[in-house]
Amino acid sequence: MKLKGLILSGGKGSRLRPFTYTGAKQLVPIANKPILFYAIESLVECGVREIGIVVGDTGEQVRAAVGDGSRFGAAVTYIEQDAPRGIAHAVKIAQGFLGDDPFVLFLGDNFIREGILPYVTQFSRHNPPPASQVLLCPVKNPQDFGVAELREGRLARVVEKPAEPPTNLAVIGIYLFDHRVFEAVNSIEPSARGELEITDTIQYLIDHGHEVKCEIVDGCWIDTGKMDDILEANRAILETLEPESAGTVDKASRVEGRVVLETGCEIINSVIRGPAIIGERTRVVKSYVGPFTSIYHDCLIQDSEIEQSVVMENTTITGIGARIQDSLIGRNVELKGCDAKPRGCNLVLGDFSRVKIP
Ligand code: DAU
Repeated sequence: MKLKGLILSGGKGSRLRPFTYTGAKQLVPIANKPILFYAIESLVECGVREIGIVVGDTGEQVRAAVGDGSRFGAAVTYIEQDAPRGIAHAVKIAQGFLGDDPFVLFLGDNFIREGILPYVTQFSRHNPPPASQVLLCPVKNPQDFGVAELREGRLARVVEKPAEPPTNLAVIGIYLFDHRVFEAVNSIEPSARGELEITDTIQYLIDHGHEVKCEIVDGCWIDTGKMDDILEANRAILETLEPESAGTVDKASRVEGRVVLETGCEIINSVIRGPAIIGERTRVVKSYVGPFTSIYHDCLIQDSEIEQSVVMENTTITGIGARIQDSLIGRNVELKGCDAKPRGCNLVLGDFSRVKIP
């Protein structure tokens, strides 16, 4: 069965400010790779070659990062959404691209470490396919998601972010649909928050007697909407890291455990304790980089200590007296220690920045 892919990479990203003021949330790197790339790779792994990417305000950056898709072995078509009018709205405007083909809808900020091949195979096995197949995952905070209610093992009801969740089963942001979804997205009305909801779409299919299958996911799924989720996804990927060295390490340095050193990075008089990844052309000088840390490309870490953190590109961290931990540090940031008296912090922080100083 030929399946297409539809990845959503628009939206507001308000929960990931300040990073989303200047960049698409789907381009935040996890283990030195934009989140969005994991979605593309998961689809390509399932044999999906035609992928539509829905973009909004940050479309230019997404286009620059992904290009025509050839580097992933896919052909990418961009679909402009004028405003974040809902996930089902994004499906609606993609009808021209999707045509009558069944497709995987993948929310660009969802991350599933083990990929989606078993679920896509399951869907493709049916001939004709069900109208939809949704993936469910038990979570501690179901009120933050679409929530599923099952009756006799079948999906009976889905509700968007209910104040009192009927179960702990979140509907994850990876869905399979066939062409019957267009009848649903063209019939439903915007919700109270003004969006065409994907949960209402699925409920429409159920209510109109179409078959909607569900599968419980047992791998590692993370909706990377908030900072803690990014760090968690980073940890999850680094846990499975295969060591690799394309950088240089001087004699005074120690590299321990599973570490990836990307092309042109330099480790000078430093300790790197894996799992960790150091990006292209990044220099680590007289510093300690501890477990579960990803430093992206063209950074400088000097006279500093950092662990359990993600640092984005072109950032400089020098002479910091305290160990940096559990932190997400953006692009082009300059973080410097200083000895000047009186002792004090000199900060230039953008809106919605968050800093904790011991
Ligand atoms: O992560 C799973 C959850 O995703 C589901 O459980 C919910 O039922 C579903 O509504 C969705 O909830 P979120 O609140 O996490 O959706 P969010 O607004 O963050 O959008 C998800 C992705 O889709 C994100 O990458 C932005 C993109 N998007 C979103 C909207 C509303 C668009 O491209 N266009 C849009 O109009």
